[in-house]
Amino acid sequence: MNAPVKPDAFRVGTGPVPDPNPPIIRFEQVGKTYAGRGAQGPVAALSGIDLDVPQGAIVGVIGRSGAGKSTLIRLVNGLERATSGRLLIDGEDVTGLTEAGWRARRRATGMIFQHFNLLSSRTVFDNVALPLEIAGTPKPQIEQRIARLLDLVGLADKRERYPAELSGGQKQRVGIARALASEPKVLLCDEATSALDPETTKSILALLKQVNRDLGITILLITHEIPVIKEICDRVAVIEGGRIVEEGETFSVLTDPQHPTTARFVEAVTGVEVPAYLAGQIHTQAREGDQAVLRITFTGENSTAPVISRLSSTIGIDVNILAGRIDAIAGRPFGSLLVSVPSQQPKLAAVLGALNSLELKAEVIGHVS
Ligand SMILES: Nc1ncnc2c1ncn2[C@@H]1O[C@H](COP(=O)(O)OP(=O)(O)OP(=O)(O)O)[C@@H](O)[C@H]1O
Ligand SMILES: [Mg+2]
Repeated sequence: MNAPVKPDAFRVGTGPVPDPNPPIIRFEQVGKTYAGRGAQGPVAALSGIDLDVPQGAIVGVIGRSGAGKSTLIRLVNGLERATSGRLLIDGEDVTGLTEAGWRARRRATGMIFQHFNLLSSRTVFDNVALPLEIAGTPKPQIEQRIARLLDLVGLADKRERYPAELSGGQKQRVGIARALASEPKVLLCDEATSALDPETTKSILALLKQVNRDLGITILLITHEIPVIKEICDRVAVIEGGRIVEEGETFSVLTDPQHPTTARFVEAVTGVEVPAYLAGQIHTQAREGDQAVLRITFTGENSTAPVISRLSSTIGIDVNILAGRIDAIAGRPFGSLLVSVPSQQPKLAAVLGALNSLELKAEVIGHVS
């Protein structure tokens, strides 16, 4: 019998095996230090950044103010240059690219901004047309492409309006249409929803998701808002002090954060807080007659399991629900519930055992009298 043919069987030489599906953007140990002015001295904005953005994915970078988010995204379209490491876009090493080289490259990357950056003296149509006019695209082709783009972003009836006549959400739709005009492979979003209310944010995120899914455009976005990550990102990187402290698939990072910074971001959307009236009374050692406060985390299938009634009926105890929340992260259900049960052993051990057997994560936060 013949041995199965390995994909590498016909390779000659001993060089590294080429990646069959290389990331569209790859940061390799990228650092960026700004020269800084006067007494301030140099500012290390980014250090040792390793990050892959897979082709066709939506990748989010989240961090607090000053963490280095804008610097990171501006490296990808050459608005800033790395001072160390390598940056690869679509397989090309762009680290040492000249300004002329970047001008050609930028057409493959669209960008949208927090404050939209539209020209107030130009109509919607003319704002979207600008990158095509600069590139010398023939008029009929411009007309055709923009009609399509305005349809896509839902602004076909606003083509002759001026930015001042539009809402924030509509302005960002113009920004998205303009960014897509040169048919980029990658869309960069710098806090694209930070100036919008939650409802409008949702509609813009839905549009970005549609752009990603229907046009196959890879999206790299930066934000300080975890709801943005939760809503549309396949992967997330958490940045702090110019370094990536955690990175991975959104669902696993958000439901099981490993770094304290991630945990703090995540608490705001997935955790349930201990109600204020209880927070001050919680102690670590159980006393006679105490109740244990548990945080139960539901993921995936188990989120709909009738856990509370099962606990009551199988162990014969009363479970008090203190707070709860059910949500979706990257399209998968996720919830957490704060309950109290008797601290007394062996009842508490039985409760924890039962939760464990249902594959639910349960954590004793403390005890109350
Ligand atoms: N042109 C510059 N010259 C000197 N230092 C700079 C420059 N641009 C940014 N920095 C510094 O680099 C660090 C990272 O800045 P950056 O703008 O990337 O942060 P950010 O995460 O985008 O913050 P924000 O959420 O406030 O927009 C900060 O300490 C900032 O002060
Ligand atoms: Mg910024």
